[in-house]
Amino acid sequence: MKVAFIAPAYPPEQRDFTRGLAEVGATVIGIGDGPEAGLPPQVRRYLSKYIRVPHLFNEGQAAATLAPALSALGVDRIESNWEPTVLLAARLRDMLGLGGMSRDVALGFRDKQVMKERLKAAGLRVPHSRRVRTDDDARQAAEAIGFPLILKPISGAGSADTFRCDTMQELEDALAVTRHVAEASIEEFIDGDEFTYDTVCIEGKPMFENVARYYPRPLTFRSEQWISPAQFVYRNPYDPALNLAEGIALGRAVLDALNMGTGFTHMEWYRKKSGEVVFGEIGCRNGGGHFVDMMNWSNDFDIYREWARSVCWHSFEAKASRRYHVAMVFKRALGEGRIAQIDGMDEIRRRYGRWIVADALLPLGTPRRNWKQTLLSDGFVGVRHPDHSVCMEMMEALIGRLQLYAR
Ligand SMILES: Nc1ncnc2c1ncn2[C@@H]1O[C@H](COP(=O)(O)OP(=O)(O)OP(=O)(O)O)[C@@H](O)[C@H]1O
Ligand SMILES: [Mg+2]
Repeated sequence: MKVAFIAPAYPPEQRDFTRGLAEVGATVIGIGDGPEAGLPPQVRRYLSKYIRVPHLFNEGQAAATLAPALSALGVDRIESNWEPTVLLAARLRDMLGLGGMSRDVALGFRDKQVMKERLKAAGLRVPHSRRVRTDDDARQAAEAIGFPLILKPISGAGSADTFRCDTMQELEDALAVTRHVAEASIEEFIDGDEFTYDTVCIEGKPMFENVARYYPRPLTFRSEQWISPAQFVYRNPYDPALNLAEGIALGRAVLDALNMGTGFTHMEWYRKKSGEVVFGEIGCRNGGGHFVDMMNWSNDFDIYREWARSVCWHSFEAKASRRYHVAMVFKRALGEGRIAQIDGMDEIRRRYGRWIVADALLPLGTPRRNWKQTLLSDGFVGVRHPDHSVCMEMMEALIGRLQLYAR
C-alpha cells in the first residue's frame, strides 16, 4: 500500500497522521512545498520519499508536476487533510484513476456556495445565501436576504474577512475592507449556539462521530482579543440530555448529500434558540485547534492511526471508550511584548492536576503570538473529566481565573 500524503508536517497534527499511515503498514510518500531538510525528524522517519513542489497552491500546475511522478511510483492512494490541498489530492486521484473522492465530490466540501446548493437541493436547512463578485451583487443580495447578514469569502478559513452586518452602511464598510477577496457569499445571519460534528468515515459511513461546542461563537472570539476561546468535546454525543440528536442527524444527512467517501470530516452547525438546527460548513479533513487530540483524550484511542487504517484498508478497529468530556481553553495575554506574568495556573494545577491533559502556555519571556493569526494564541490548557459539570467547572476556571500578562 503506497500512499502519497500531501502536507505531511503542516498543520502540526498532520505529523501524527503521517505516523498513523506508517503504523498501519503503508509506504508513505510525503508531498510539500518546503525543503526536505526542513521536515521535523518525527515526520522524516515515516516517509519513504519526499517530493517538493514549490507551487503547491497552484492546483493545476502542482497536479501537472505530480501526476507523472506519482504514476511512476505506482501509488495506491493520494490523501490530504489540509484544507488548501484537499482539491489537489482529489484532482490527482482523478488524473491517475485512483479510488477515493473525486474532485467534484471534494468541491462540495471546499466551495461554500456549491456546498450549500447541494445541501439545499437535498432539502437540508442551510442559511440563505448568494455568491457575490461585485459590490452591486452584494447590495442586491443584501436586499434579497435582509439584515443581519454575514459577508464571508467563498473559500475562507479562520473567520478571516468575515463580517456580521446589521445595516447597509455596515455592509458598505465591510465591502470597503474586503476588496482583496475575489468571491464572497452573503448569508442570512443565524443566531444561536455553535457546534461541530466530526467523523471518520469509510465510504460515507461514520465509523466514529464526535460533537463539540464552541464557547463563544468563533466569529465573536475571532474579533475580541480579551476573550479566551474554548471548545468542549462531549464524551457521549448520543446522551439525550445533551440534545444533540438533531445536529447528528443533520451531519449524517450532509455526508450523504455530499457523497462523502473515506476520511475525516469536520462540520460546523448552529442550534437556534427555537431548537432549529442549521448547517454551517463542512470540510473533508480534520478540524484544527487540537480537535483530533481532544477526541483521543475523550476516547483513549489513537484516531490518527484509525484514520490511516480507514484510508488504507477500509477498516476502523479501535473502540471509542466514550469516557471523558474534554475542554480546551486558549489564552491571550493582556498587553504587548513578552509573556511577563502568569496568574492562576499554579492553583489550577493544584486543584485539577490529574485531569489536565495539555498544559502548553507560552513560558515567561516568550514573545506573544499574533492572536488574529493563530487560534493557539499564547498557549492553551486542556482538561478532561467523566462528569459534565466538573469538566465545565474546570473550563470556566481556565477561562476566568487564569490570566497571562505581557510587557
Ligand atoms: N450564516 C451565519 N450566521 C451566523 N454566523 C455565521 C454565519 N456564517 C459564519 N458565521 C460565523 O463566522 C464564523 C466563520 O465562518 P465559517 O465557519 O463559515 O468560515 P471559516 O472562516 O471557514 O471558519 P473557520 O474559522 O472554521 O476556519 C462561524 O464560525 C460563525 O461564528
Ligand atoms: Mg468555520
